[in-house]
Amino acid sequence: TPDLPYLNLREMEAAAAEVLSPAALAYYAGGANDEVTLRANRDGYAALRLRPRMLVDVSAIDTSTTVLGLPLDFPVGIAPCALHGLVHPEAEVATARAAAQTGSVMALSTMSHRTIEDVAHAAPGRLWFQLYLYRDRSVSRALIRRAEAAGARALVLTVDAPVLGRREAIIRTPVRVAPGTVLPNVGPRTPGSEGLDDLSYFDTLLDPALSWADLAWLRAQTTLPIIVKGLLTAEDAALAVEHGCHVWVSNHGGRQLDTAVTALDALPEIAHAVAGRAEIYLDGGVTRGTDVLKALALGAAAVFVARPALYGLALAGEGGVRHTLDLLRDELRLAMALCGKTRIADLGPDLIWRG
Ligand code: FNR
Repeated sequence: TPDLPYLNLREMEAAAAEVLSPAALAYYAGGANDEVTLRANRDGYAALRLRPRMLVDVSAIDTSTTVLGLPLDFPVGIAPCALHGLVHPEAEVATARAAAQTGSVMALSTMSHRTIEDVAHAAPGRLWFQLYLYRDRSVSRALIRRAEAAGARALVLTVDAPVLGRREAIIRTPVRVAPGTVLPNVGPRTPGSEGLDDLSYFDTLLDPALSWADLAWLRAQTTLPIIVKGLLTAEDAALAVEHGCHVWVSNHGGRQLDTAVTALDALPEIAHAVAGRAEIYLDGGVTRGTDVLKALALGAAAVFVARPALYGLALAGEGGVRHTLDLLRDELRLAMALCGKTRIADLGPDLIWRG
């Protein structure tokens, strides 16, 4: 890892803001509407207070865990996020290498610059593939087959974006892929779409009619585990479990429904509804080891980060993403020690102060 001077993820974010183009910064950093949910995602972690236990032998801390049977060195993965190629020529391949080298896991977005095969090769056995369902199901089916053949360990179906949220920063400064670039899972532009920016065009390919019946369809297409990403209620989590799926609690980084509840606030009711029948993941606003600790204490098996990984990629490619993950792992280890917890399995709701 190159010796990077950043002490924490906020410093990396500030440094990345200096190097990103205005359009890439608007696209990465922005949220929907007034960005109430975007801010709440972070503020929620600060507002939760910890109940540390003392006089526990913390000379050895073990941050390792498993997700869907895959061993992780620490319970942090990379959330699916589009267009890594906006900031680094190696794009998702660099991010995937960093995830593999730190014993993490990466969820590859449908809207990637690099092919599923290239990214899978960079993170053998440590890749999940994120799906948006296309109106043309045969395209989705072909992507599922490719993900399976490339060795993806799970499919992540994102369900909180049947239509694109109103992200005003990118309405003002639309993000564009480099001229001539064809995104491998999106394909060449259809005639007549020239006036649309890349995100709006992608949105026209997706099916806004997506419903639970389609999840049954998807379940029948593959034997891979399916994780439903973007759930925020006990009701939907229970439905996901009834459909044989795992649950990813998320408000899409505050980019879809503004003023939606945070994943952290939704987690207790979801953990209660799931009741151990499926794995639960969480994302949104995680920037500190204590954030990871709190999410795990409330029932998440692992957490995921999107923007912090993108900022690392923008600053130093693969080594930058590794720096992001290393910081989170080291901070989690420290937080566990200061809480008197030596193993991931020991993190429970007793850690959270209820006032
Ligand atoms: C995203 N997110 C996302 N989610 C998804 O399922 N498919 C996608 O292609 C994308 N693309 C995407 C691009 C960018 C630039 C961002 C910031 C986010 C949402 C992502 O997976 C995740 O839910 C949140 O971003 C997590 O919050 P943090 O870690 O960014 O605060």
